Amino acid sequence: MSETSPQQHAQGAPGDTRPVTVGDPPSVADSEQAIKEATKGGSKGGTNLDTLVGRMVVEQGLATEEEVQHALQSSKDGSGGVGQLSLAHVLVDRQFVTKRQIARLRQMIEAERSGQQIPGYKILSKLGAGAMATVYKSRQLSLDRLVAIKVLPQKFTSNPQFVERFYAEGRAAAQLNHPNIVQAFDVGKANEYHYFVMEYVEGTTVYDDIMHKKRYKESEAIDIAMQMAEALHHAHERGLIHRDVKPKNIMLTTDGVAKLADMGLARAVSDKDAAEAEAGKAFGTPYYISPEQIRGETTVGPPADIYSLGATLYHMVTGSVPFEGKNPSAVMHKHLKADLVPPDHVNPKLSAGISEIIEMMMAKSVRKRYASCADLLLDLKDVRAGNKPAIAHKGVVSAAAFEDIVAAEAQAHAELAEAQPKSGGSPFTHPLFILVVAVAALSLAANLVLVLVR
Ligand SMILES: Nc1ncnc2c1ncn2[C@@H]1O[C@H](COP(=O)(O)OP(=O)(O)OP(=O)(O)O)[C@@H](O)[C@H]1O
Ligand SMILES: [Mg+2]
Repeated sequence: MSETSPQQHAQGAPGDTRPVTVGDPPSVADSEQAIKEATKGGSKGGTNLDTLVGRMVVEQGLATEEEVQHALQSSKDGSGGVGQLSLAHVLVDRQFVTKRQIARLRQMIEAERSGQQIPGYKILSKLGAGAMATVYKSRQLSLDRLVAIKVLPQKFTSNPQFVERFYAEGRAAAQLNHPNIVQAFDVGKANEYHYFVMEYVEGTTVYDDIMHKKRYKESEAIDIAMQMAEALHHAHERGLIHRDVKPKNIMLTTDGVAKLADMGLARAVSDKDAAEAEAGKAFGTPYYISPEQIRGETTVGPPADIYSLGATLYHMVTGSVPFEGKNPSAVMHKHLKADLVPPDHVNPKLSAGISEIIEMMMAKSVRKRYASCADLLLDLKDVRAGNKPAIAHKGVVSAAAFEDIVAAEAQAHAELAEAQPKSGGSPFTHPLFILVVAVAALSLAANLVLVLVR
């Protein structure tokens, strides 16, 4: 998996400070070998920790193999003049890495080491790492099957509320069974690390696709959106809200099946704080978060997932995120306040129907959004069949009709105001006065005629 964010390619990620990987990612075989070496304990080339630090620095493209070997030698023989130092010290001194980067590597090592110690599983390789955790491809020994294990960092253990939610949601997610949801198998704790065992998915993510192709064809995007709407409908009906629907959490199997990942993974902090923290670390960004999650509303329901799926779909079909900004707060402010540029204005190839659907999915007010994924599916089916999306279109038409009524009323008011005498105007110009004068004049003329005739 590449380390750059799609925004770096498409529009520049706010707050992205993550080092960019240079060169090919290590193969599974390389990683396996490295993990084996790292866990042998006290390798020839330095301490166990040094070996891991060295490998990661090379993997991240921060220094070459030779530079690391050279630094390792200096760290062992104290050629810096201050006796033996850790490899990390030497690398910081030589400005290959910053202290912050070393801290981040240590976190990764901590998670990787923890991965070695989950009873009943054999860790095979690292699949990837997100803002909150590291994911390993593993073998479940009892059933002899491949699984993916997500290991959460130790910092979460200190929050009992989070731990409680993690297990509750893990149990709930394990009850779900749907072809479009990455199946949750187990949650547990080993050596202070909490982990989540799930179905291993061979394939890529929508995030990877956006990076490579930038834009999906409308029909392909509808196909994936429908599978996600089916998955969410299944979860919502059972009382589970995902809260983090985004391109990275939509996996695509080699057979073209879309699977929603991370269902049931509790968040340690509020959605807004999580979005900000992730954005700060540049592993994720609040590009897909719903307004009610930003406001920190306590009861976040199915429409929040519909909004995030809408923002994801927007990105898929336009190649741009719905709202950009200098920093996470600016992006979140736009989710709350800014008007959405209709998707078919960004990509004129899109049908009016898909645009109407996305706009309804991303309505700022929950009341104006699809109430359920069942409704959303009806509209997606309509557009796939080349028809107008009945629900969204009705919304657009009734909104237009409402605007017509408002405009007609405004016109009527304007005419009435025109017809009324302006304050301070002469009473002699009032139509009633003119009428009375005219009647009086006519009656006078008639009387005169009568007098003359006599
Ligand atoms: N069930 C799985 N099967 C195979 N690979 C997986 C699975 N779950 C996650 N991965 C891989 O691990 C990577 C890291 O996943 P993780 O959920 O920790 O972070 P993320 O979703 O990429 O980002 P974020 O932290 O912003 O949510 C994913 O990008 C994906 O490549
Ligand atoms: Mg994920």
